[in-house]
Amino acid sequence: MRYDESIIEQVREANDIVSVVGQYVKLEKKGANYFGLCPFHNEKTGSFSVNPKLQIYYCFGCNKGGNVISFIMEYENASFPEALKILADRAHISLPAADTYEDPAEKKKRERMLAIYKDAAYFYHDSLYTPDGSQGLKYLMEKRRLSKATITHFGLGYSGKFSDGIYQYLKHAKGYSDNDLKESGLISFSEKGPKCMFWNRVMFPIMDLNNRVIGFGGRVMGDGEPKYLNSHESLIFNKSNVLYGLNFAKKSREKFLLLCEGYMDVISLHQAGFTNAVASLGTAFTDSHARLLKRYTDTVILTQDSDAAGVRARMRSFPILHGAGLKVKVLDMGPYKDPDEFIKANGPDAYRECIDKARNAFLYNMDMLKQEYDLTDPAKVTDLYRRIARELTVFTDKIERDNYVKAVSREQNIDYDSLHELTEREILNSQGMSRTVMPMQPAAPAPKESESERRKTSGRAGRSEDILLYWMSERKEVIPGICAYLKPEDFSTPLKRKIAQQLMTSSDFCAAAFLDREDLNEEEQSEAGRIFAGTPVTTDDDDLYKILTEAVRNILKEIYDGILHERNVSAEKFQETLLKKSGLQNIRITQ
Ligand code: UTP
Ligand code: MN
Repeated sequence: MRYDESIIEQVREANDIVSVVGQYVKLEKKGANYFGLCPFHNEKTGSFSVNPKLQIYYCFGCNKGGNVISFIMEYENASFPEALKILADRAHISLPAADTYEDPAEKKKRERMLAIYKDAAYFYHDSLYTPDGSQGLKYLMEKRRLSKATITHFGLGYSGKFSDGIYQYLKHAKGYSDNDLKESGLISFSEKGPKCMFWNRVMFPIMDLNNRVIGFGGRVMGDGEPKYLNSHESLIFNKSNVLYGLNFAKKSREKFLLLCEGYMDVISLHQAGFTNAVASLGTAFTDSHARLLKRYTDTVILTQDSDAAGVRARMRSFPILHGAGLKVKVLDMGPYKDPDEFIKANGPDAYRECIDKARNAFLYNMDMLKQEYDLTDPAKVTDLYRRIARELTVFTDKIERDNYVKAVSREQNIDYDSLHELTEREILNSQGMSRTVMPMQPAAPAPKESESERRKTSGRAGRSEDILLYWMSERKEVIPGICAYLKPEDFSTPLKRKIAQQLMTSSDFCAAAFLDREDLNEEEQSEAGRIFAGTPVTTDDDDLYKILTEAVRNILKEIYDGILHERNVSAEKFQETLLKKSGLQNIRITQ
């Protein structure tokens, strides 16, 4: 799917970043830039900056940055075309018809898939009311105690015992080709003929936010493996972007959403009047899920299963939800396994009481953690304190963190000063290890760049590079002076080389446009945002040229030192470099 460069530019230019971001974040002008509370992480001091001149944003707290399009993508959890559409609408620009930017073949395929899934959902649903499907209906109504209204609302169904019923229907009554059906994943073909993926199961259609069926879960009606069979990911179904029940929950008027684990929990809760329940369908809970929730609420109440797996799920989802800026609480269902069982046993009023008593999720997690340690052993006590300190690093805001240190030390009977000190030490340790600190997650992934692509820099030369790139993007007239001494290759990372290359070779560099380049990964985009956001240290031209001169010298000095320290540098090169190094003081960048 591709848009023309010029239309992207037109949309970007018609949407001033300050006014767009201003719709979501309260911004305050400070100097040339605007500041506010970052919408992408939880903070109490405004480290989120918007630069009207460069039309970019950058958060000094979580390092997210980009232009007006990436802001909408991030905030609205939207794809590039979706974000472009939102901004085009906002500026009353009409985008070219969808066909001109979406690959028509792909679009057709997607539409056909959606049509197949819709037809299949109706077929499965209608089957409940045929003789073959009566046992499915019986299971749902008697065993699971669902009303006909609930069954219709969620479009539940039954996949026949005579497994090729749906094949016959889709092929002969609806006219889909074998190839289409194979691509849908619902039917496979072997020498023995067509075979349906779902067979003798009650069916749960999975719907997207527009109520379109994009996949199915099918449950065995007794014991059997697997308990649930789920559609594979496809052109229309991406598990990490879907929350079961959100199509209904987004319309509930509650101030919070209930997050549970399974199809049946969501359905039971909705039937009992809690239409704000959603589930992540047994898959790992992701950042995308959290951002999706954040679009509709500020508070999430965790009501995952009470077994060990459910407790782990709560532990893992906390930093992700907190990181997306959500308040998180935990609901205690006592001895009941999941919301479905709880409601069946105690009814909606009792569940409502649990909601009212829901507890702060972090403090709850620390209680759970404590139970894993044998506190009669002093060594284990120390381990527990360290572990709690590590968990506390999830709070990147100092004041918030300290409030939690206080609360935890009070609740868990831990000396405040010790816990405070341990936590701050963990913070220092974790800084620079990964972009976002997610202590309950596995270790941060290894950096993608190889050593050879990234030259080692001292902090000083790295900062000098940032300063040069910032001023070159801010004040074009300084570029020739810098070009006299540095080439793009002299910068230390692939990203900085790309920026320098573009600044030094094209006459109309645009920072906001640079951020749309396809060859930037998400980290590079944020890093570029950081560089362009800069921190202008001077308004005085004399000072500026002194700063630039100093920066060029720092970078060259480090490059020369690198050569001088090379093990097998030739005598000739050594001499030459030594000479250049001694000439550094003569370098002057001037107006
Ligand atoms: P549960 O086993 O807790 O499911 O798994 P449940 O919804 O409570 O099911 P019932 O009440 O026994 O009918 C939670 C979720 O994990 C996924 C499903 O999405 C399920 O709803 N799951 C579970 C699978 O995908 N496959 C399985 O075999 C089991
Ligand atoms: Mn259950």
